[in-house]
Amino acid sequence: MKKDNPFTLTFGRQPSEYISRYENMDMILSTFQADNPISQAYLIEGIRGSGKTVLMTAVANELKKNKEWVVVDLNSTQNLIEDMAMRLIDSCKKIPDILKQGFNVTALGFGVGVNAAQSAQDHISVIEETLASLRKKGKKVLITIDEVQHDENMRRFASQYQIFIRKDYPVYLLMTGLYEHIYAIQNDPALTFLLRTPKISLEPLSLHQIAKQYKKIFAIGDEEAGKLAGITKGYAFAFQALGMLYYEYRDEMNMDDILSKLDDMLDDFVYKKIWEALSQKDREIVAVIDSDGTKVQQICERVSMTSQVFSKYRERLMKRGIISAPAHGYVTLTLPRFEIIAKSYAMF
Ligand SMILES: Nc1ncnc2c1ncn2[C@@H]1O[C@H](COP(=O)(O)OP(=O)(O)O)[C@@H](O)[C@H]1O
Ligand SMILES: [Mg+2]
Repeated sequence: MKKDNPFTLTFGRQPSEYISRYENMDMILSTFQADNPISQAYLIEGIRGSGKTVLMTAVANELKKNKEWVVVDLNSTQNLIEDMAMRLIDSCKKIPDILKQGFNVTALGFGVGVNAAQSAQDHISVIEETLASLRKKGKKVLITIDEVQHDENMRRFASQYQIFIRKDYPVYLLMTGLYEHIYAIQNDPALTFLLRTPKISLEPLSLHQIAKQYKKIFAIGDEEAGKLAGITKGYAFAFQALGMLYYEYRDEMNMDDILSKLDDMLDDFVYKKIWEALSQKDREIVAVIDSDGTKVQQICERVSMTSQVFSKYRERLMKRGIISAPAHGYVTLTLPRFEIIAKSYAMF
């Protein structure tokens, strides 16, 4: 790739060619910055490659600009309570008078020779003491968790978080996840507070903004920029991938060849994983849908399903961001060029 190519295929980091999600940012920021926040937690839901991590990072970076906020990024595959205790201490080292003299990780029994229950209790005490000091200083803590899973670790962390809220500590929680994981977490009877947690389901990026960005970078006309934007369907990963390829090859390749490379990238980075996560029936359904829209009745006939049964599948595929319903009685594929790739997967 050319050295100065401004596009990136890297997941999770804020890209230099960034399309703003003003509305979503503003929703989360105004909720968290309110004097009496209606919620101290927020969920970001969306399909792989839709821009969840980037949005979460953008919110965290915005809050970090204000000295009032301490941001703690947790890793969902680590022990969340332990991770929170350690990272909280770490972030507070830079703030004067928060941690007691001689307060350090090893002194508090992190993992050294104590049993699991005792050490969990130690971590919680450390967290509570630190939160209490931060509260006194008028500081707030944002905890971010990327890609939440519905497992015992998350359940333990979420119940503990609920206790922190009850004790009025200034802790805010921002999480991202796939629809199926967030659904499982929100519907866990032990974690009912998450059911009321506001949630953003990521929509496609603005085609208008994408076209404007392409127009500027490639110095092309409105029509060509609009066509390119249309190809991405607003899918964040496709915006980067097509931008990157177009930047690289527009002088030496025709559009069909560029699109064929785009398909390979979509396949490799995201679609293969999305396809693998679908059930056999989901796949059969997806494989008979055209991207310009297919009649529901026709799909039911082709996969031998009653319309009642189909509507359950439709609902779930819609929530997962795979299909959409552009008009009554029709469905279409939401992701760009997914049709071509899905039809080829379905042959194997
Ligand atoms: N708002 C955005 N503007 C431009 N590109 C974006 C935006 N959000 C995400 N991307 C790009 O899309 C890809 C996937 O983003 P990421 O946030 O990692 O997705 P997710 O966490 O939903 O899987 C990355 O290449 C990233 O640079
Ligand atoms: Mg992510």
